[in-house]
Amino acid sequence: MTNIANKTAFVTGAASGIGLALTKALLARGAKVMMADMNAEGLKAAQAGLNNPENTATVVCDVADAASVQAAAKATIDRFGKAHLIFNNAGVSLAGRPGQIDLKDWHWITDINLMGVVYGCETFIPLIASHGEGGHIINTASMAGHVTTSGMGPYFATKFAVVGYSEALRVELARADIGVSCLCPTWVTTNIHNTSDKSPGAESTGGKNRAKFKTSKPYLAIKELIENGMSPDDYAQLTMTSIEANRLHVFNDPQARQEMINRHEANLADYDACLSDLGMA
Ligand SMILES: NC(=O)c1ccc[n+]([C@@H]2O[C@H](COP(=O)([O-])OP(=O)(O)OC[C@H]3O[C@@H](n4cnc5c(N)ncnc54)[C@H](O)[C@@H]3O)[C@@H](O)[C@H]2O)c1
Repeated sequence: MTNIANKTAFVTGAASGIGLALTKALLARGAKVMMADMNAEGLKAAQAGLNNPENTATVVCDVADAASVQAAAKATIDRFGKAHLIFNNAGVSLAGRPGQIDLKDWHWITDINLMGVVYGCETFIPLIASHGEGGHIINTASMAGHVTTSGMGPYFATKFAVVGYSEALRVELARADIGVSCLCPTWVTTNIHNTSDKSPGAESTGGKNRAKFKTSKPYLAIKELIENGMSPDDYAQLTMTSIEANRLHVFNDPQARQEMINRHEANLADYDACLSDLGMA
């Protein structure tokens, strides 16, 4: 199913950034949108700023809570009858050095970035299958789900998991006429770099280290890259054309190609060396 017009979409993280831009792009293509976010005030303000808010509804939803996602799905069906396009997009970032990250923060980011995607998929897949019109699941990962750098281990871990999960889902759901795409953006101008301030470890020892990290060169460089990144609207447009083309990944980073090749070649070098050790090469 690659036709967006007249379909119903469910978008998490719809109060801000990429989720709000996805909402606008979906509306422009004639879809109806259930906007979900844990930020109730932000959600209402975002909806009020839309050109055609009558084609939307809002639901306050914490994606880290399975019951909350299930309640949001019920609200979507009650309001629009069916759901076709599911954007598991809400996410947070977390900066910190290995050995200095509060375990509460590990659970926090995993519950939102990975389990939030899982809850969205597990809840909506049966609902899409039940109407027989097909659908599309769009999980937001990141270029951080393909290549890594220093200072954000938990973020990379969750995003690699979302890429792997999405790839597996795509194979499994194809026969049910449910497409799967995985958003892998780099440097889109949103509020993402401020989200780690809300983590539960913020006041802990790990949090103090993280506060120090946030004045460090790597963190400030990332902040600047995000502030000067692609507009969320441009990335949302790319997402729409990628869904219509049924692409798996949605990339926007002109510099990442060589990094992806380097990672692949390093993995293959280990593969070849291990098989050589085993006498299988
Ligand atoms: N901006 C970038 O450069 C970039 C790059 C790669 C990936 N991403 C990913 O894009 C997605 C969207 O982030 P963004 O950049 O638009 O940031 P953003 O902070 O502007 O928007 C994120 C939205 O998610 C909501 N949210 C956070 N936790 C939630 C929860 N538990 N339940 C429900 N809603 C919750 C926030 O309230 C916010 O409205 C995230 O998954 C992020 O990791 C962003």
